[in-house]
Amino acid sequence: MCGIIAYVGTRPCAQLLIDGLRKLEYRGYDSAGVAVHNGKEITVRRAAGKLSTLQDLVDREPVAGTVGIGHTRWATHGPPSERNAHPHVSGRVAVVHNGIIENHVELKHKLTSLGRVFTSDTDTEIVAHLVDMAMGRGLSLVEAVRDSLRELRGAYAIAVLAKDDPTTIVVAKHASPLVLALADGAVLAASDVPAILAHTREVVFLEDGEIATLTQSGAKLETVSGEAVVREPTTIRWSLVQAERGGYKHFMLKEIHEQPRAIEDTLRGRVQLETGSCIADEIGIAEPEARAIQRVVLLACGTSFHAAMYGRYLIEQLARVPAVVDLASEFRYREPVVAPGDLVIAVSQSGETADTLAALKEAKRQGARVLAVVNVQGSAIARAADGVLYTHAGPEIGVASTKCFTAQLAAMALVSVHIGRARGALSESRAKELLEELVRVPEKMRAALEQDAAVQLISRELVSAQNALFLGRGVSCPVALEGALKLKEISYVHAEGYAGGEMKHGPLALVDRSMPVVCLLPDDPSLEKMLSNVQEVRARDGRVLAIVNDPACATALAQWSITVPKTAPEFSPLVTTIPLQLLSYHVADQRGTDVDQPRNLAKTVTVE
Ligand code: M6R
Repeated sequence: MCGIIAYVGTRPCAQLLIDGLRKLEYRGYDSAGVAVHNGKEITVRRAAGKLSTLQDLVDREPVAGTVGIGHTRWATHGPPSERNAHPHVSGRVAVVHNGIIENHVELKHKLTSLGRVFTSDTDTEIVAHLVDMAMGRGLSLVEAVRDSLRELRGAYAIAVLAKDDPTTIVVAKHASPLVLALADGAVLAASDVPAILAHTREVVFLEDGEIATLTQSGAKLETVSGEAVVREPTTIRWSLVQAERGGYKHFMLKEIHEQPRAIEDTLRGRVQLETGSCIADEIGIAEPEARAIQRVVLLACGTSFHAAMYGRYLIEQLARVPAVVDLASEFRYREPVVAPGDLVIAVSQSGETADTLAALKEAKRQGARVLAVVNVQGSAIARAADGVLYTHAGPEIGVASTKCFTAQLAAMALVSVHIGRARGALSESRAKELLEELVRVPEKMRAALEQDAAVQLISRELVSAQNALFLGRGVSCPVALEGALKLKEISYVHAEGYAGGEMKHGPLALVDRSMPVVCLLPDDPSLEKMLSNVQEVRARDGRVLAIVNDPACATALAQWSITVPKTAPEFSPLVTTIPLQLLSYHVADQRGTDVDQPRNLAKTVTVE
């Protein structure tokens, strides 16, 4: 799970590569490197640590050349260090790689027995050796890469540069993302669009099993077996500015504040208030298909899993179809039973999560129809699905997902109303009521964001906590789980989310004076039961932070409370999530952690 970039053009490219890598740092940030060809030889600069360390190195020891490759790493094989940083070099060849070569042990053994000497612990170095050996047998760079790929099993997006071919880079992809960009007098390739947006908005997404030869005159795209591929470029709609921090201290804070806009964009053009209908053609589920659905299976990981959990509640409630939710990583490995009558919904911000993609493919293989709810245009999950509902949250840079989570909740609301209407489970008048409320949600989110200062004050009291519990019932249960994930992910405070009803079955034993318990108390049918949970916590001296619609309902019991506007109970998670995101942000910021790039994590998890 790393970021790669390649450039062939007329401009000195070392800085250009580093600038591109900066936009990919969310994919991994434990070491980085570049290799640049100056027409005679390849120069490599690599450094352990963040990209700024590589930047300092290149500033001290500049590299000349207009053809080069770069990499930002998230360690899989071998600890983060200079020796394991990419590019990896063998003889005349330098390689950057994102993914995992699964048969690396076997290949390394074979190459070692042939006298090849390894200088890193990585699986990637194998590729450099294979290509170098193939070129040694007289193959051209592209032929040598093609030849080497036949030996590899696993996931890769690679870019290869060779001393003997100063004007060419060869890139290839299987199960890891790669996008090409054709700019004026230059060709680029990268793991993700933000890395190339400064150069062009016209991009071509590579498919699995494709290889491209990049030269100044363009990109030649083929399958690995040598058939020519012609593909129209896609125009990217978001701007570079949308991917910048815009005055906020962290991307995460900016992205929290962007949520009302993200929801408006996700709903835009998809809601017809006059008829109580939404998203007709886009997802390819018209009335007959909706009526034929026997079951909905929602698959996702991490934060997207919490959005999928919310989707399950809403689909059962509004569309009256049985729905189940599963972690994609569990689904793919437990011989799941999927039937052709199942609608599978894969939820993913990046659209590249390896487990979600594999689970989707398994469901398709078993004959299910697959709908993807993804944020990244043209991503692997979007391409593999039968239909796509894009969340229009814009690029999310902070590793902790915020605006993409609430955009996923909005997408789930659209899907539930759509299927409910199409199956006749939801009357026109009820659908209208719900949709009218849904389009008012962004305003309510804006009001919730105004509680930022109040949440920051409360966060000072929680900054030294070692543990925290989050409780919610019904649609607030996934919000509780998400609140706990957010806090642990960026502040490293141990936190757990529970359904309120589960408290007495174990977690209550943890509650004492030192335990902050965040309780979600929106005005919905489970409010009374949640208030009983609050009583139980208080009776054990636990400290309660209540998220409420009505301040009166918690004043006597809670140490702290945050009031957010009331919306329809079905949509309360879109609003109640906001104070939890702000809480985790401020706790993490005061604890001095790296909010946007928390330790050990990466934004896009393209390894299983
Ligand atoms: O890109 P995806 O939505 O498929 O990613 C799934 C998880 O890796 C992701 O939500 C992760 O849990 C986030 N870091 C949470 O903030």
